[in-house]
Parts: sequence; C-alpha cells; structure tokens
Amino acid sequence: MRIIRIFDTTLRDGEQSPGATMNVHEKLQVAKQLERLGVDVIEAGFAIASPGDFEAIKAISAEVKGPVICSLARAKAEDIERAWEAIKDAEKKRIHTFHSTSDIHLKYQFRVSREEALRRSVEMVRLAKGYVDDVEFSPMDATRSDIGYLCEVIQAVIDAGATTVNIPDTVGYSTPDEFGRLIRTIRERVRNIDRAVISVHCHNDLGLATANSLSAVLNGAGQIECTINGIGERAGNCSMEEVVMALRVRRDIFNADTNINTEEIIRSSRLVTKITGLFVQPNKAIVGANAFAHESGIHQDGLLKEKSTYEIIRPETIGLHKTRFVLGKHSGRHAFRTRLKELGYELTDEELNNAFERFKRLADQKKEIYDEDIEALISEEISTVPEIYSLVDLKITCGINERPTAFTRLNVNGQIVEMTEHGDGPVDAAYRAIARITGTRSSLLKYEVKSITGGTDALGEVMVTLEEDGRTVRGSGADTDIIVASAKAYVNALNKLASRTKATDKEPRP
Ligand code: KIV
Ligand code: ZN
Repeated sequence: MRIIRIFDTTLRDGEQSPGATMNVHEKLQVAKQLERLGVDVIEAGFAIASPGDFEAIKAISAEVKGPVICSLARAKAEDIERAWEAIKDAEKKRIHTFHSTSDIHLKYQFRVSREEALRRSVEMVRLAKGYVDDVEFSPMDATRSDIGYLCEVIQAVIDAGATTVNIPDTVGYSTPDEFGRLIRTIRERVRNIDRAVISVHCHNDLGLATANSLSAVLNGAGQIECTINGIGERAGNCSMEEVVMALRVRRDIFNADTNINTEEIIRSSRLVTKITGLFVQPNKAIVGANAFAHESGIHQDGLLKEKSTYEIIRPETIGLHKTRFVLGKHSGRHAFRTRLKELGYELTDEELNNAFERFKRLADQKKEIYDEDIEALISEEISTVPEIYSLVDLKITCGINERPTAFTRLNVNGQIVEMTEHGDGPVDAAYRAIARITGTRSSLLKYEVKSITGGTDALGEVMVTLEEDGRTVRGSGADTDIIVASAKAYVNALNKLASRTKATDKEPRP
C-alpha cells in the first residue's frame, strides 16, 4: 500500500479565497489542528507577501512539530531568502519555489523566453538548496504548457536539487483522463524522475480538482496538495477531506492511503469555517451538513436494518458523533476546561476566564449546551483581532406597527459612544447606528444567519462580508439573540478592516 503525502495549503492558497485572510493567531490555531489531523506538509504562507504572512510562518515553525513547514517563494532571490528566514526554526522545513512554464504566462505575463524561465528556475532551486535539503518546485500552469518544455524544466530542476516536483493545474482546466496521462508522460519522459516525488495541485474551476488528483495518484503521483473544505483561489483547491476519504474508502482501487487521522476531519472543517467565515455548502461531500442526513423513507428503512445499505462512510470515521448534551448551568470551570481540551482547544488562562464567563451567561439562557455551542462561544476567544470597537449595549424596538429603532453603545478605543438610529428592520437599524459611530465607508456584501443547534433557544450565528477599497473581510458573531449576533458579526468585521495592514495589497499573489 503506497502512502500518499498530504500537503495542506489552507494557510496559503486557501487564504487566497476572497475575504479568508487570517491573522497570525488564527493561522497558528489552524496549523495546530493540521498537526492533529496528521498532514505531512503545512504550506504556512508566502513569506515575502506580507509581514503578517512572515510572522505566521515563523510562529508556526517555532510551535508546530511533526509536519514539514513550508513557505512559498517566487523564483526570485529575495523571495527565497525571506522564505528561509521564516522557516529556519522549524524542525522539518521546505522551500517551495515556482515559475510559470506555459507560453501564455511567459509571453503575456512575465514577458520572458522559455530559456530564461528555465534558467531562473534552475538558479533559484540551487539557491534554495543552499538553505534546505527539502526543495519543491512548481512549473505554474503546467497543464497548459508544452509537454516537451515542461519535461525539460522538470528534469533540470531535479538535477539542480528539487526533491518534489509539483504539477499545478493552476486554472482548473484539465480533466481526469488528460491529467492522469500528463503524470504518466512525466514519469516516462523525465530521465531523473525517480529522484523526486511527483506532487499535484489541482484547482476546482470545472469541479474536477478531486477527480484530477485521484487520477494523478493512479498514474504515480505521491503527494496531493489540498485545502480544508476545498477553499482557495477562485473555485478553490482540491478538497482534503474528499481526496483523503476517497483514498480510504476505495483502497481497493487506488491501493494507496494517507497518514491522515480521519477522526479529526470534522473538527478541522469547523475550525476553518469559523476562522475564515466561509460556510460549507450543505450538500458538500464528507463535511456538508447533509452529507450523512438521510431523507428518503426507503433509505431510512434500509439504514435501520443495516447501515451498509446506504452508508459508505461511518460518521464516526470523520469525527462526527451524535451531538451530545455536554454541560449546563451547574457545570464548573474544571468541566468546561476539560471539555474544551477534548474538543481540541487550548486556551490561555485569560481566554478561558472570558469564555467561561460567556458560558455561564449562555447557560442562564439555554438549558442544554452542546459541543457546537461551546465552539461558537470560544470562537470569539480564538479570533484575536485587535478590538478597536466592541459592543457594549444594544436595545431594539420593533414590531408590526413599530418603526425599527436601535440604541447602540460601542466602546471605541476606550471611549464609550452611543447612537440611536432607525432602519427598515432591527438589523438595519443596528447596522446604521454602528456605521455612524465607526464612520465606516465599507459596504455590506453578504449577510448570513443560521442556527447552531435545534430549538428556539439555540444560538444564532451570523456571518457578514464587508468590502472597503477593494478589500473584503468576513466577520462572525453568535448569540441567542440574533440581532445581538448580527451586531457582533458587523463589529468583528469592522475590527478586521481596521487592523488589516497586509502588504499582500502590494505583493501580487500567485
Ligand atoms: O495554482 C498554482 O499554480 C499555485 C502554485 C504556486 C503552486 O498555487
Ligand atoms: Zn494554486
């Protein structure tokens, strides 16, 4: 049985999803979860892109043991040096450098000849090799490159020291048959290919990223690049949970498996959703809310008789246990801390105190507290966006014959500011008041609300997307009162806008 390496790029390509930017603390939380999940490589960021990316890679390198920590770098000396600075403290480290190889990119974007692109690629792999043994090279837009030239570049970078050659379907253009053939051709034509691992990096523009990656495995690929929930540039990347479970469930076909601890899949998916604000569609394979929901009477009847009639994966395999009543009003700090640990959250004493306070308040309003409630509750603790604004009070009047009115009190950098506003509904009134207090120029692109568990006393979770000067951010808030949850989500997003000083705005992303 071959073991296929899982190279997780949630923190790099995944972060390129519009609005999915994560701060250093959030990235560290995700990286620690990726470690628990058992990924082989964490692409922690693109070191030269911004000081935030650099700091995150550095922090992950210092704190996360087990997986190889990798930084992306263009085929430029300053990128490679910055990548090295960011990863040098990691236990296991890798530099991933790339250069386009397709004529479309070379002619219109980079304006360099094939020869020049080859020369730069080789030179930069050699430079990276001077810092680390583990060097990965990607010929960007490989699937639209001339196959002869592509093989020439791959052979040359392996000679220069690349230990992994990654074949990206950058624009998600390929199909399973064609992509599989490409991997086979590379194996047949590249003389020194046995000295490197073939990796694949598929985008999902045609919804084929998982199928293409699996086809590559059948044709000899030994590493798959993927992201949690399939997030990433445009339509996203190959989804980790799909590709891992396909390999596990159909070992008979692939004769391959991964090192992934699949019981951590749901937790990883939920953490990434919480931190990025990118909801998973309900019918998404493996991690969607409906992935294990059986609606049809015939299916339910079969399941009751024998699970294998309609279930190809046991929910427990991915860490999905029946929602359990865990804590209540009389639960103490110790029980709360223990449950958090079991859920995989390590909080500082201060974070724990704050979360416990909120837990007690919630327990007063809601009799039964489920794991999902606890996760929502502490997401405010793990998202450490500097709080320039915080919601102190909110009073709403509304009703059938009432003009919706919101009295809002915010703490703005230590000063209390109050405002009363009207709107066409309570959320509109509250948002108008907050907008006036903060003077924001942002516009609200998206507002989503969902209930975290069942029952009318459930926590409501609100996600908003704001846009300001071409930048998008997402904010989230949870409360048993959905107007309060809405206000919290808006304030959270405004804090993100206020604290965003990313140099990504200067450095173009790959
Ligand atoms: O999609 C792509 O080509 C990339 C490379 C940098 C690997 O993300
Ligand atoms: Zn990509």
